[in-house]
Amino acid sequence: AVLVMFFVAAALAAAGGAELVEHTFVVSQVKLNRLCNDTLVTVVNGQFPGPAIEVNEGDSVAVQVVNKSPYGLTIHWHGVKLQLNCWADGAGMITQCPIQPNKNFTYRFDVAGQKGTLWWHAHVGSLRASIHGALIIRPRSGASSYPFPKPDKEIPIVIGEWWEMDLDQLDKNLRNGYHLDMPRAATINGKPGDLYNCSGTVKDSNIVKVEHGKTYLLRIVNAALSSEYYLKIAGHKFTVVAADANYVKPYITDVIAIAPGETVDALLVTDAHPAGRYYMVAKASQSPKPVPQIPLFITRGIVQYSEGPRKEEEKALSDSSTSSIMAPEMPDEHDAATSFYFHGNLTSLQPQPVPANVHEHLFYALDGGFFCRKGESSCNNDTNMMGMVNNVSFQLPTTTPLLQAHYHGNMSSIGTLRELPDRAPRMFNYSETLEPTSKATSVRRLRYNATVEIVFQSPVLADTYANPMHLHGHDFLVLAQGFGQYNAETDVATYNLVDPPVRNTVHVPLFGWAAVRFVTNNPGVWFMHCHFGHHSSSGMAAAFVVENGPTLDSTLPPPPEDFPSCKTYNSLHRF
Ligand code: C2O
Repeated sequence: AVLVMFFVAAALAAAGGAELVEHTFVVSQVKLNRLCNDTLVTVVNGQFPGPAIEVNEGDSVAVQVVNKSPYGLTIHWHGVKLQLNCWADGAGMITQCPIQPNKNFTYRFDVAGQKGTLWWHAHVGSLRASIHGALIIRPRSGASSYPFPKPDKEIPIVIGEWWEMDLDQLDKNLRNGYHLDMPRAATINGKPGDLYNCSGTVKDSNIVKVEHGKTYLLRIVNAALSSEYYLKIAGHKFTVVAADANYVKPYITDVIAIAPGETVDALLVTDAHPAGRYYMVAKASQSPKPVPQIPLFITRGIVQYSEGPRKEEEKALSDSSTSSIMAPEMPDEHDAATSFYFHGNLTSLQPQPVPANVHEHLFYALDGGFFCRKGESSCNNDTNMMGMVNNVSFQLPTTTPLLQAHYHGNMSSIGTLRELPDRAPRMFNYSETLEPTSKATSVRRLRYNATVEIVFQSPVLADTYANPMHLHGHDFLVLAQGFGQYNAETDVATYNLVDPPVRNTVHVPLFGWAAVRFVTNNPGVWFMHCHFGHHSSSGMAAAFVVENGPTLDSTLPPPPEDFPSCKTYNSLHRF
C-alpha cells in the first residue's frame, strides 16, 4: 500500500499537483436592491451572480450545497464532461431528485480535458435565472501555456437578467404554455447599468478598470433565460480564443454574439486613444416580426482606463456625467446575420479527427406546438404554446429521476416515457402550420461508443426563432449551419470535416439548421434541451440514455451514498 501511495503521489506531482477545490454554496432568499426596488431573490451566498469556481485543468471539485431556500434545488455544471459521473450532473429529475429545503448535498466531480470558461447553474425549474456563476478552468501548467498572448488579467463577464417575479411561478406558467412573463432588466455581472430608469447612475454599472497597453482575458457567459446578446466595447476589438471551454483559432471581431448557455473567451487589448471611458454594451436580439416582440433589453457597463479622468474629477464624473463616455454602435435587434457569421467563423484551434462512420442519423425539428387543455375550444394561441422536438413536448418524470430508473433497469416505471422519433412526423411540411403537440418523457437510447449525427432544424415559417441547443455530458463537433430547410443531399457538402468547433451548445439559426456530431463515450442519462427558458421549461428537450460499454471503465458506477431521495419530497415545493 505504501508503494501504491508513493506512485499515486508521484503521478500527482508529475501532473503538477491536481488539487481538490472546495466550495460551500448556501442557497437562500435575500433582498437585493436593483432598479430602486428591494426584490426577494434566490441566490448563492447572498451574491448575484454567484461565486466563480476557479480550477486548474485536472483538479477535483467538491461543492457542498446547503439549501436554505424554499425550493427543491440542484446545481448543474454546464459543459463539464463528467466522465463516468453522470450522478453529479445535477439535472433535476433527469439525474437526481432535488435537494430538499433544509437539506445539504455535496457534488464531487473532476474537471479533465477542458480549458476555458464554463459555468454552473441551478437546474430546477427557472431558478437558474438567479442561481448561477462562472466556472473557470486554467491550464495546469499556468498562464504561459495559453495558446495566445498571456493575459495580464482575467475578467469574468456574466450577462444575466433581473427578474422581479417569483421564479417558481414563472416556471409554472411556462410549463403551462404561458409565455408573457418578462425579466425587468438585463445585467452585466449583476448590474443593470445606467440606461435603466432609476438604477440610473454610472456608479451602478459594472465598471471594468483597465490600464493602457495591457491584455485582458474576458470570460463571457450568457446566463440569461430569454435572449441572445450582442456584446461590444466602444473603440475596441476582441480576439476570440475559446468557446465552451475549447480553444478556437484566434478570431478578431468587434462584436461577440452569445446565446444562452454559451461561453466565449476573448482577449481585449487596451490600446484605445484617448485612454478614457468606453461603454461595454450587451444588447438582446429579437426574433423577426410577426413573432411577438419582447421589450428591448440593453445593459451596459464601462471600461475605464486608469489614465483617464484624474482622481479628483473621477467622483464627480462617475456620479453624473456620461457625456465623456464613448458608446459603440450596436447591431439591430433583428440582425440575425451577425450572429450567424460570428458562430460560423469559429474553428477549432487543435482539431481532432472527425468521426466519419455515423451510426445514428437524427433529425430534430425544433418548434412550438399548441396544447389544448380540457374544455378549451380555441387553444391555438400564445398562452398555449409548448416547445417541442419532433412534435413531443418533454415532461420531467414526477417520482423517479430518469437516471435512477435506468440504473435499476426500471425505465418502465416511468409512466410518461416515450421513445423520441428520429424524424419529424411530417418531414416535408413540418414547418407549414402550427401543429398540436403531445407531452411525454421522451428519451432516445444510444449504445455506448456510437457516432451520432443530429441535424437540428429551426422553424422555416415566418414565425421563426433561433434555438441554442445544449447537450449534457458531451461536447459535439459543429459541422455546419445553414439557412432554410436542411437538405441531406446538398448540405452535407458544406460540412467542415477539417477543423469544426467543439461546443456543448449549438446555436441553431432562425430560419435554418445546424448539424453536429458526437460519440457516446459517457454512459448515463444526459439531458438535451434548448437553453432559452421559455423553450426548455415548456418542453423543447429530450434525454439521451447512453448504455454502458463492455468494460469497467465504460460502466457507470453506483450513485453516491448520500444521494438525495425523492421519497419524502414535499410536493408543495414543485420542480
Ligand atoms: Cu445549462 Cu441543462 O443546462
